[in-house]
Parts: sequence; structure tokens; C-alpha cells
Amino acid sequence: MESYEAAKDEIKRIADIVELIGQYVQLKKAGRNHVGLCPFHGEKDPSFTVNSSKQMFHCFGCKKGGDIFAFWMEYHKVSFPQAMKDLSERYHVTLPEKEFSPLQKEKQELGDLLFEINEIAARYYNHILTKSEKGRPGIEYLEKRSLGKDVINDFMLGYAPSEWDSLTRFLKSKRIDMDKAVKAGLVIPNKDRGYYDRFRSRVLFPIHNMKKHITGFGGRVLDESLPKYMNTPETPIFRKGELLYGLHSAYQVIRESGRVVIVEGYMDVLALRSHGFNGAVATLGTALTMDHIRKVKGYAVEAIVVFDSDSAGKAATIKSFPLFLNEGLSARVMVLPEGDDPDSFINKRGLDDFLKFLDESMPMFEFYIDLKISRISKGIEGQVNLLKEILPVLADVDSDPQRLLYVRRLSEKSGIAESIILSELRNQRATRRKEGNEGRLRERLSNLKMEISPERDLLNLMIHYPSAMDRFIDSEYRILLSDPDIIEIFHCMDGIYRKEGRIQLDELPERLEHESARETLREIMLSAPICPDDSIEQAINEFKNKILKTKISRSLRSKIGDLEESSKLLNIVKDSQN
Ligand code: GTP
Ligand code: MN
Repeated sequence: MESYEAAKDEIKRIADIVELIGQYVQLKKAGRNHVGLCPFHGEKDPSFTVNSSKQMFHCFGCKKGGDIFAFWMEYHKVSFPQAMKDLSERYHVTLPEKEFSPLQKEKQELGDLLFEINEIAARYYNHILTKSEKGRPGIEYLEKRSLGKDVINDFMLGYAPSEWDSLTRFLKSKRIDMDKAVKAGLVIPNKDRGYYDRFRSRVLFPIHNMKKHITGFGGRVLDESLPKYMNTPETPIFRKGELLYGLHSAYQVIRESGRVVIVEGYMDVLALRSHGFNGAVATLGTALTMDHIRKVKGYAVEAIVVFDSDSAGKAATIKSFPLFLNEGLSARVMVLPEGDDPDSFINKRGLDDFLKFLDESMPMFEFYIDLKISRISKGIEGQVNLLKEILPVLADVDSDPQRLLYVRRLSEKSGIAESIILSELRNQRATRRKEGNEGRLRERLSNLKMEISPERDLLNLMIHYPSAMDRFIDSEYRILLSDPDIIEIFHCMDGIYRKEGRIQLDELPERLEHESARETLREIMLSAPICPDDSIEQAINEFKNKILKTKISRSLRSKIGDLEESSKLLNIVKDSQN
């Protein structure tokens, strides 16, 4: 491509935004649009909207939106140059040698370089594990843990030999800048001089992002020494709270089955794999975060959390529960026999038993109630505390039968009469409804404002029937406008029209200066036309009338203003004469 803009247009022309976003978000067709749960904010009802013909997306909840580049940048948290690069590779469009700002260039190049260094290191460690005598302890260890060649290859596992500088020397031989290898977290500068390897005598698990690039590593010792696991430290490309081990290769299976199994460790994911279960992912030793859940809900309709049955595991599960509720992803808990984790369980009992336990996993809510009840003190005080904690959560359950079921269970387990729980719950939900109603009322009012706002309707008319601009361009339609965003949009459209003789909608968003104007524009582009094709003429006439009326009433008002002003002046004159 000769120019950067041309390459950008070419990518937009080739790419199908529904197909692209559909890889990360589950989209359903709804009229002219596709909708899904927004990956950028917590929501239970889809307001994330993608439109194929306009090649844009917009979330009516959090207002994020734009073209495929905007999605890519937001979803993968990358800069614009990086998004250009990724998408140009994806759609096989060659980029011109482009003049990015030095800072942009530096940032992108550092990221690229770190991925590249990680890739080189992963290949090196994998080579040691699978091809070199030095890797024997690693291979023996993995064999002991029943991991075969397939899993080793698929996940590019490796071994860091027990030397201080084997990777350091290798990277130097490849002329890698040591400073950058330090930034990648792979080598550490020595106090006096030189460098040494971070990972030594460990089997290594490369961690891939959704673009299948290696962002970092986890490494496990082969014996009982500590720390058992070591990860790459936080680097510009390695952020633990967002990453899920194994997701890059599990997402298709997860989407097909609709469920994701979330486990605690690398070894759990790999053991399940080696037994033929391909739908598991692991956090990187951190608690489950909102970011994790938003990632998986793009593929799964339900999550099954398998945490160790120790108390830390239970506590972690309980903590994750409100996150699942907030994000609207249904969740169950798989309870393994005391002392087992998924890895030890499946190696002892096989895939069939694992699947059986999976099917029997209990809704997280039930797990939650049981655990809370097991912890309360005896007597009234305990019961009061229990209700105080559980009722707000119960009130969040939208399905009536399910809520009643939980109430029954809570009553049975806690000894609190069902009628008491129900009436307390009603109070709780009534207060909520009131708050909710206020919110909804506000929404309705603002929608109403929208409905009676002629400027929004006028914009709608022109967006959906751009040729209507012909009829307004010489009129004083601006008299109807007061919203600064809409004024900005019209100003821009006017400019394009005067220059090109027609309005080109695809150019419009980029020409707007303010994000809030772009938001307004996206909303109107994605909403239905205000009138059907055969009554455009009528709508145009109505607007013309409106313009006329507004003009008349303004000029009247200004005349009246003049009158008032003159009578005031007259009074002043009279007063001064007295
Ligand atoms: P195995 O003993 O190999 O089966 O590991 P595990 O996965 O059963 O271990 P565990 O349940 O103790 O840990 C689960 C996850 O927590 C691991 O996969 C790591 O991501 C993380 N983790 C465990 N121990 C450490 C540690 O000492 N340091 C760090 N940074 N992470 C750890
Ligand atoms: Mn384990």
C-alpha cells in the first residue's frame, strides 16, 4: 500500500467486523445489528451492538465504540500502530513504511521485541527439554507427572537447565540486546557486571495471549524447594490479572461446549489436556478478576470453577461469586474429594469420572449458602448475621423459581422460617425496585427528551437518508440545534457536503473531534430510521415547518424583549424626572 490511510481503508474493506469481534464476544443477530454482552463493562443484558454494513460497534451501556481498530485497541489494550500492525497481518495488507511518532514507534517496537525475545527463549527451552541431554531431568519430571509429547509440543513446554547463564549466553549469541532481555524478565543484571538467567532448574510453561504471542513464563521446580512456582515479573507485555493460561488454545472448544472450566494451576490445565479434556484454563496464581470473567464470557455461557477443597480454595471461590453475578455469567463449583486437585484427580480416576463430577457440580449459589451457613454462630445472632449477608445476594437472582429454591434451601439449612426469609427478601427487592425504577424513570425521561428532541431526529433523518441534506443545506436548520455534539456533527456534515456535494458517512466519525460527538453519532447510526422510506418527504416538510416556527417565535420573543426593555427604559426616565 502506498499510503497509511489507504492501508487502513483496505483493511476496513476486507475485514468483517461481526466476524472479527465475534471471535472474542458471543454475538447474536438482532434486527439489522448483532448484539452481545459488552467485554468492556459488566452487564447482564446485551447492549453491545455491532453493525456489519456500517462496520462499527457501539455499547449503549458504556458508550465505547468505533471501528475494528478501536475494538482491537480496547480489547487487546494495544496502541493504534500495534492494532494497525496486527490487523494488517491478519488480513494480509502490506503497510507502508510509516512515520509513527518516535514515542509510538518505540512503544510498539519494545512490545514486538519482548514478544520476539520470549519466542526465542521458549524455543530454546523447548529444544533443551526435548532434544538435549541437559533437559533429561525435565523430561523425567514431566513423565513422572504423566505429561506426554503431545502436550509438551502443543504448549511448547521447556526446561531451564541448572546453569547460571545458559539462556543469557544463547541470547547473546543471537545478538539480542541484554537490556531488552532484562525488560522481558528473562535475565537479571548482576551486581558487579554481566547477567544471569531468571529461570534455572525449572520446567517452563510459556504463557500465550489471545493473539498466540508469548507474554511470559511460569516455571516449576522439580523437587520440594521453594518457591515452587516462579513467574515472569510484570513487564510491559505481561499482566497477570488479565491472562488465563490455556485460553488461547481452548477458546474454540469452550465456545462449542458453552462452558469453561477454571482451575488453579498450569499442571491442572495440562493434566486435563493429556486426558482429552480441552476446555480448561487457569489463573496465574492470582485470584479471579473481573477481567478474567469478561474474557471468558466471550466464549462461554457458564463457568465451572474447580478450586482446591482446602479452605483457601473455598475462600477464593466465595470471593469470585459476586463477580460472576455482576458479569451475568452463570457459575458452578466443582467439588473434588478432599486432598485432590484436577491434576491428581484425573490421573487417579480418569476422564469419565472427571466428567461425572463436572456434571454434578453445584450452582455457585448453593455452594455459597452452604459455606455461609457452616460458618455462622448458633442462635438468633448468627441467624440475623446470616440473613444480612445473604439477602442482598439472593435479591440479585433474577429468576423467580431459582430464587424460591434458594430460599427453601436457606430455610432448611439455617432453621429460619421460609416466610421470614421471603418477607425480608420482598422488602429488600422492593427497595431495589424503587431504586431501579428511579433509574429507569430517568432513562425513560432522557429517552423522552431524545424523542422530542428535533435535532436528534433531524440528524437521524440525514444519517439514514443522506440525500435529504440537499433540502436543508440552504435553510436555517441550525436554528433547531443546541446540543454541542449534534452541532459538531452537523458542522462536519455540512463541511463534507459543501466540499464533495454529498455526505460520505464512513468519513464522518474520524472527522469529529470529540469522543462524545462520536458516541452520539454511533448511537444514531445504529438506531432505526425515524421514518419509513415512503414518508421521508413528509418528515422533511415537518422539519421545514419546525424551522419556520422556531424562527417566528424567536423573532417575536426578541421583539417582546425589545418592548420590555423600552418600557423599563421609559420607567427609568420617568423616575429620574420625579
Ligand atoms: P503442582 O504441585 O505442580 O501440582 O502445582 P499445583 O498447581 O497443584 O500447585 P498449587 O495449587 O500450589 O498452585 C496453583 C498455582 O498457583 C500454580 O499453578 C501457580 O500459578 C501458583 N503458585 C503456586 N505456588 C506458587 C509460588 O510459590 N509462587 C508463585 N508466584 N505462584 C505460585
Ligand atoms: Mn497439583
